[in-house]
Amino acid sequence: MTAGAPDIPALERAGRILKEGGLVAFPTETVYGLGGNALDPEASRKIYAAKGRPSDNPLIIHIAEIEKLDAIVREVPDKARKLAERFWPGPLTMILPKADIVPMETTGGLTTVAVRFPSDPIARELIRRSGGYVAAPSANASGRPSPTTAAHVIEDLGDRIDMILDGGPVGIGLESTIVDFTEEVPVVLRPGYISLDMLREVLGEVRMDPGLIPDNSNVKPKAPGMKYRHYAPRAELIIIEGDEQDVVDKIRTLAAEALADGRTPGIIATEETKDRYKEGIVVSIGSRREEETIAHALYKVLRGFDESEADVIYSEAFHTPRMGHAIMNRLLKAAGHKVINLDKRKEKMMVAIGSDQGGFELKQEILKHLDEQGVEYKDYGSYDTASVDYPEYAAKVAKAILSGEADKGILICGTGIGISIAANKFKGIRAAHCSDCFSAEATRLHNDANILAMGGRVVGPGLGCKIVDTFLQTPFSGEERHARRIRKIHELEIDED
Ligand code: TXA
Ligand code: MG
Repeated sequence: MTAGAPDIPALERAGRILKEGGLVAFPTETVYGLGGNALDPEASRKIYAAKGRPSDNPLIIHIAEIEKLDAIVREVPDKARKLAERFWPGPLTMILPKADIVPMETTGGLTTVAVRFPSDPIARELIRRSGGYVAAPSANASGRPSPTTAAHVIEDLGDRIDMILDGGPVGIGLESTIVDFTEEVPVVLRPGYISLDMLREVLGEVRMDPGLIPDNSNVKPKAPGMKYRHYAPRAELIIIEGDEQDVVDKIRTLAAEALADGRTPGIIATEETKDRYKEGIVVSIGSRREEETIAHALYKVLRGFDESEADVIYSEAFHTPRMGHAIMNRLLKAAGHKVINLDKRKEKMMVAIGSDQGGFELKQEILKHLDEQGVEYKDYGSYDTASVDYPEYAAKVAKAILSGEADKGILICGTGIGISIAANKFKGIRAAHCSDCFSAEATRLHNDANILAMGGRVVGPGLGCKIVDTFLQTPFSGEERHARRIRKIHELEIDED
């Protein structure tokens, strides 16, 4: 069936199966789900069994009317309501405190519950016909890539479920963005189609779960499901990161070496690069100019390699502007975090960035640039051109650095001066006001500056990005005379009564 031409008798039958405690796989706009009645502990047990999934990994409850929300949660914070208004129905899941009627089996023993209101018309129709609450994980066998077609579901679970509704290939291809509202500041537990920037536009401050930051392997992710090694293809998968031509050259070398070794290499390329690979099983995942195509094809491509002869797969990295986070989160997991980074200058670093209205436009340009460079950042606002007080943004960025949440900061106001003065009030902060690359380099070499301050009305976007690159890529010289002077600066930080 298609969204435009729903098969009503099939939907009716599926709804009945769910009401009677059975399992039905169905399409959503993200991936196919494996549905059971969310309020029936027995149905949840069946879901875990069918997937072969550990029962401490909670399920998402799907609803099809906003009025259904209040019965399954204890409260809905204002911020969660705002987000629901903006993105529901759609690829967003919210974690909220659960109400008593939600069985612990569904939440994997947690006192919180994940809720999602999908936009797919077949999913919505099914949910309405089944009593209103459908628990559904992705309809793959545990450890396999999520299914983006009904055929994938049949491959994994065909003989273990009562019915599959075939709605054709899904639209997005990656699971929903999960946002946790049980802490003061909302936290992204799983990146998805709805990006951090889109969330921040509505909510202001939003954090990324530290367990999701690739090099933080000692921090456990908060969504239980994110700790498992998912989406793993049969062949070893290695990601190659760096400038495009360097990546192509490296993958060609690796592929040739694999062949010489008697192994068959697979290559995950893009429309832009596929013709440059001469050996191996080359698959184009989509076009970097349309990042949605890459998200859409990712799981299909990973599944496809399992059917192929490939013994080892080399993939380009996909740090695309909006969905790059979500795509790389899945790809890194599939690769078990095996990455060859050809660009030593971009060693993993977290940048905190903030501005007032005078710096907002330059900040947005710099964010785009950081996305392209694959540099991780946290945007502390402001989020538009409304007039705000710059010391507040200076404080947020300074605190992010002092707490270790970020390695370096960027602050922008009209001239860059006020915001740097404010940041320098914090012990341990060395904010340097720069309008040229020479100063940015020197302040890193000599002062080990940890914040770059710039004037949004002083430097244009082109120069601004160059200054940022220089600042982020220049290491401290480490020379004793400079280290001594930095110590003396901090000795000047006298607490006056
Ligand atoms: O797009 C999607 O969200 C798809 C479609 C079918 O809706 N569903 C999906 O479900 O991806 P699943 O079960 O494959 O992933 C749910 C994730 C898991 O990582 C789980 O640990 C996390 O959500 N989760 C569920 N309830 C949670 C809770 N109360 N607290 C923290 N994480 C939770
Ligand atoms: Mg899943």
